[in-house]
Order: sequence, then structure tokens, then C-alpha cells
Amino acid sequence: MNYNLENKTIIVTGANSGIGKAAAIQLAKLGATVVMACRSVERGQKALDDVKAKSKSWKVDLMQVDMSSQTSIRNFAAAFKAKYSKLDVLIHNAANFDHTLKTPELTEDRVEKVFATNHVGIVLLTHLLLDLLKQSAPSRIITVASKGLMMYPLLDIEFDNLNGERKFNMQHAYYHAKLAQVMYTYDLAERLKETGVTVNCVRVTNVALPDDRLTHLPVWMRKIYNLKRKMSITPERQAETYVYLAAAPELEKGTGGYWDENNKQVTSNKNSYNQATWQKLREVTEKMAGVK
Ligand SMILES: NC(=O)c1ccc[n+]([C@@H]2O[C@H](COP(=O)([O-])OP(=O)(O)OC[C@H]3O[C@@H](n4cnc5c(N)ncnc54)[C@H](OP(=O)(O)O)[C@@H]3O)[C@@H](O)[C@H]2O)c1
Repeated sequence: MNYNLENKTIIVTGANSGIGKAAAIQLAKLGATVVMACRSVERGQKALDDVKAKSKSWKVDLMQVDMSSQTSIRNFAAAFKAKYSKLDVLIHNAANFDHTLKTPELTEDRVEKVFATNHVGIVLLTHLLLDLLKQSAPSRIITVASKGLMMYPLLDIEFDNLNGERKFNMQHAYYHAKLAQVMYTYDLAERLKETGVTVNCVRVTNVALPDDRLTHLPVWMRKIYNLKRKMSITPERQAETYVYLAAAPELEKGTGGYWDENNKQVTSNKNSYNQATWQKLREVTEKMAGVK
């Protein structure tokens, strides 16, 4: 891919590992100013050094954000706006898939942690940066869902279980939040038509997780991940879709799409197209994010 991103400023959340880090390298190589928005300053600093070295670019920055904390997200958005006067692409890559979670854990904002990180925090961060994205138009928002959602064809938003109050299982909570992201993408894309801000979602396939992401897991789970790895693509290969959605000129106006690892548009779960659910989801999420 040979795009020129010289004057573009791009945020990648969760850029210290896996696909986010690979995307940061590829975007920086193309000349973009890349802001790596990471939860841990220590892990972020290590990754920053690596991204700079591999991209041979000095236009890479590290800023701290914990996407499960609304205070942290608000602080990050304010700090970003104080430092940068434009934002061309916002990539919501970070996600919690901590399989050791057995019971719902509430964040300081009283939101279940997986839903807080993988959906509510993303809605809040977009909300806080939307004025800048509009000023910087044409600009782009990229969200991230999962091919694994195909295993849940009947899944719908569980408005009586957003905080895991009725039932909780980590895998279910993860896919539920990813389904919410798909609906949010479609809804936001509709609402931002005519603003010059596009919104597209990546359907991430099976991507190999680096060894250091598995150390906290029990041995049997690491074995499953190692088996899965044989059928996985690399983070670098999946990151190419992030770059495509962030940079392809033909997508300057293309919005509301769901994209696979071959940069082809695909369909999502049937329930994800229900506009009444989009609206209800928007209302409850904005309330949870404290923006209404
Ligand atoms: N790998 C797959 O097979 C697969 C499949 C479908 C979808 N996906 C999606 O692809 C995206 C990237 O995943 P990956 O495979 O690259 O996994 P990864 O290597 O584990 O990266 C996840 C990133 O998210 C960050 N993160 C987690 N919680 C955070 C929080 N509260 N605040 C800020 N950052 C946080 C992590 O930071 P820390 O270092 O601080 O934990 C890490 O940088 C995610 O959205 C994931 O759901 C992956």
C-alpha cells in the first residue's frame, strides 16, 4: 500500500500490542503523525520505541488512556486537543478480552468492564473528539468488531443485561459489546452523513496474539490459543485493513461499511440492521457515558 499520509494525524487506541501496534508502524511509515493511545505508560513507551525504530519516523507520540475509565478518557481527549489542532483518523482498536473474568466487574463509573471498555468508552471518546473530526473533515472513524460474531447469529442487544446483571460469561459479554459496536458504526455513519466524517467497522478475523499477551491465562487456554494460531493471520496482515480504511482515497466518502481482512465489504448479523435498536442503544449508551 502506497498512500501518502504526510499531513494526517491519526489516533490508534491500544497501539502497544498486536494489530494496533502493527497499524501504528504501517501508518507512521506512510508519513502520518501517529498518536498511540495506551493504557500502560510502561508498555506504551516500549512499543513507542519499537514503532519509531521500525517505521523510521519520529512523528509518533504516546498518550495515556484507560478506555474503561470515563475520567481517563475525558483527560485524554482534553490533553489531545491541547496538543493537536487536527484529527484525521480515529481508530478504536483497544478492547478487553480478559478471559480470566468470571463475574461481572463494575468500573468506577458503575458499568460492567467489558461493555465499558469495548463499547461505552468508545462512544464517549468519539463524542469528545467529534468537533475536531468535523473541523478536520474529510476525516474518518474506524471501529473494530470480530468475525467470531458469526457464531452468534441470533445475538441481539440485551438491554436488561448491559452490566451482566442477569447473566455473565466473558465470551458472551465480549461479542455482545462487539455487536453494539457494529450497530453504533451504522448509526453514527447515518448521523454523520453530510459532515465529511465517515465511520467504518473492521471485522477482525482470527489474528495471532503475541506470546506476551497469553501469560496470564491458564495452561489449557494457552494451548487453545496456540492451536488457534495455526489458523490465524498475522497482526501485520490484519492491520492492512486498518490502513486501507484510514487512507484509501476511494473511501473518502464511503461510510457505514463492515470490512473483512481482504478489504471487502461483508454483511453483519441480521439483528445489527435494526434501526430501532440502534436508537435505543444510542440513548442508553449516551446515558451510561454521561453525555446526555
Ligand atoms: N486477535 C484476534 O483474533 C481478534 C479477533 C477479533 C477481534 N479482535 C479485535 O482486534 C483488536 C485488537 O486486538 P489484538 O488482537 O491486537 O489484541 P492485543 O494484542 O491484546 O491488543 C489489545 C490492545 O488493547 C489494549 N487495551 C485493553 N484494554 C484497554 C483499556 N482499558 N484501555 C486502553 N487500552 C486497552 C491493550 O493494552 P494493554 O497492553 O494495556 O492490555 C492492547 O494494546 C481488538 O479490538 C480485538 O477485540 C481480535
